[in-house]
Amino acid sequence: MNKKINAAVFPVAGLGSRFLPATKATPKEMLPVVDKPLIQYAIEEAADAGITKMIFVTGRNKRAIEDHFDSAYELEAELASKDKHDLLEIAQSVAPKGVEFVYVRQSIALGLGHAILCAKPALSDEPFAVLLADDLIKGSKGAVQQLITASESVHGPVIGLETIEPHQSRAYGIVEIRERVGEHVIASNMVEKPNPEDAPSNLGVVGRYLLPYEIFDVIENLPTGSGGEIQLTDALAVLAKRDGVLGVSLKGQRFDCGSKLGYAKANIEYGLEHSEIGDSLRAYLKSLIV
Ligand code: UTP
Repeated sequence: MNKKINAAVFPVAGLGSRFLPATKATPKEMLPVVDKPLIQYAIEEAADAGITKMIFVTGRNKRAIEDHFDSAYELEAELASKDKHDLLEIAQSVAPKGVEFVYVRQSIALGLGHAILCAKPALSDEPFAVLLADDLIKGSKGAVQQLITASESVHGPVIGLETIEPHQSRAYGIVEIRERVGEHVIASNMVEKPNPEDAPSNLGVVGRYLLPYEIFDVIENLPTGSGGEIQLTDALAVLAKRDGVLGVSLKGQRFDCGSKLGYAKANIEYGLEHSEIGDSLRAYLKSLIV
């Protein structure tokens, strides 16, 4: 794309039904992995990639996310008065410095493509990133930064990919490969949640994208797709068939924190590296394997 990515969209308006009852009144993106909500990991990843405008597409549970990134006067005053400076520092550093937060609303969860369309009024005519916070990616280099680095020679969309097992295809958008370019691929099509026998490859799309502004024209003209929703995959398929879409196999370990098992694994992996509980958790896990 050869352009700096200044803005990122965080769709957080999904129902999170796989995580009920936890998500009845709380967005799933506020579920903590050890001690930090999923959405905060995603915001930090975007900020580390130089992004300064964070656009949330929220639904009925908007309060918790807005409050999380706002200052908490009473809590901060209380911690300061008790000289709990370490905790005060944690509470005050939730929002990265120099970052602007914008909230737009998706009144009905009509799908990821529709959620992204809701962010259009908050964006200017330039490419932007999309991060799905329930895909937590642990690695030495942030996933969005990996996409930005790979995007330098292309103008269209750039998507994060992961190699999947054939039986997992029903949980992913799967790309059809036109050609391989070094470590990356150019996709010529994309299919949402195909049966294994219909999957065009073993590369599944994960929740990191760089999208050109023209994606909005495409989404606006889409018919309803799989599951009765407006699917981002269908919009990407239009651009893939026309010009090709760059797919980047992301380095790092991805946890599907929209699923209970993925979320439990993330808590263990991040817990093992946590300065406060890592050693005790390791000892506890060892004690279970007898
Ligand atoms: P999911 O496909 O995981 O759907 O959305 P979901 O509704 O959140 O979860 P389940 O399947 O009911 O458990 C992927 C991302 O897209 C957002 C979600 O918040 C999540 O970050 N999303 C999805 C929206 O913002 N709006 C939608 O209409 C759909």
